[in-house]
Amino acid sequence: MNIKIENLTFFYPGNKKPSLKDINLEIKEGEIVSIFGESGSGKSTLLRLLAGLEHKGSGTIDMDGVRVLGPNSFVQPEKRGVGMVFQDYALFPNMNIEKNIAFGLNKMSNDKKKARVKEMLELVNLEVFAKKYPHELSGGQQQRVALARALAPAPGCLLLDEPFSNLDTDLQVRIRGELKEILLKAKVTTIFVTHDRADVRALADRVAVLCEGIMVNLGTVEETIDQ
Ligand SMILES: Nc1ncnc2c1ncn2[C@@H]1O[C@H](COP(=O)(O)OP(=O)(O)O)[C@@H](O)[C@H]1O
Ligand SMILES: [Mg+2]
Repeated sequence: MNIKIENLTFFYPGNKKPSLKDINLEIKEGEIVSIFGESGSGKSTLLRLLAGLEHKGSGTIDMDGVRVLGPNSFVQPEKRGVGMVFQDYALFPNMNIEKNIAFGLNKMSNDKKKARVKEMLELVNLEVFAKKYPHELSGGQQQRVALARALAPAPGCLLLDEPFSNLDTDLQVRIRGELKEILLKAKVTTIFVTHDRADVRALADRVAVLCEGIMVNLGTVEETIDQ
C-alpha cells in the first residue's frame, strides 16, 4: 500500500497543545518505516489516525489514492485494509489460537478460512499451538499470534505499536530477527512505533523521528538516529 500523509495536525479533545503538528510523510508499497520518539511524542496518535481510531484531525491521509481522512472524508477502520498489532496484543482470551487468527476472516468460506489459518500458523511457526489458549503461550508466542491475526486478512498495511516492549531483553533480540523475516515473507507495507533504537536498526528501511508532535527528522537509519 502507498500512504500519503499531508499537513496532518491533531488535538485530543480539551488539549491546548496538538499531539501531532503538520506531519508530512509518504510511504511506498512494501516499505518498513519506523516512527521513533520518546514517550509522549505522538507516535501512537499517528498510528491511531492511520488505523482510523481517531478521526478529528486536520490535513489528509491517502491510502492507495483513496482519501481515508480529510475535511469531508473518513473511511472506517475496517474498510481501510489495515492490520494493527497493539502493545498488549489484545488477543481474545476465550478463543484458542486458531480462532483468534480466524477472527477477521468471517467473509471467507470455511475451507478457505481453514487454509488461511494454517498458512498463517506456518508463517509465524506456531502450528503445534493451534488448539491452545493465549494464557498457555509465552509473551513472544502471543505476539506472533497477534501478528498472524493482523496479517490473516492480507492487509495492505501493517501497523505495530511498540511491538517488543512487553518482552524480556533476550527475547526481544530473537524476535526482532523473526519479525523481519515474517514481514519480508508477507511483503507487507509496515509502520512500526518504537522508542528503542535497536528495534529501528534491526527492522526499518526509513525512520520518521517525532519530538513533541513534530516530525524533526526523516531518512534512513544512518541519516537519522545513527547520524
Ligand atoms: N486520550 C488522550 N487524551 C488526551 N491527551 C492524550 C490522549 N492520548 C495521548 N494524549 C497526549 O498526546 C501526546 C502524544 O501521546 P501518544 O501519541 O500516546 O505518544 P507516544 O505514543 O509517542 O508515547 C501526549 O502528550 C499525550 O499526553
Ligand atoms: Mg505510545
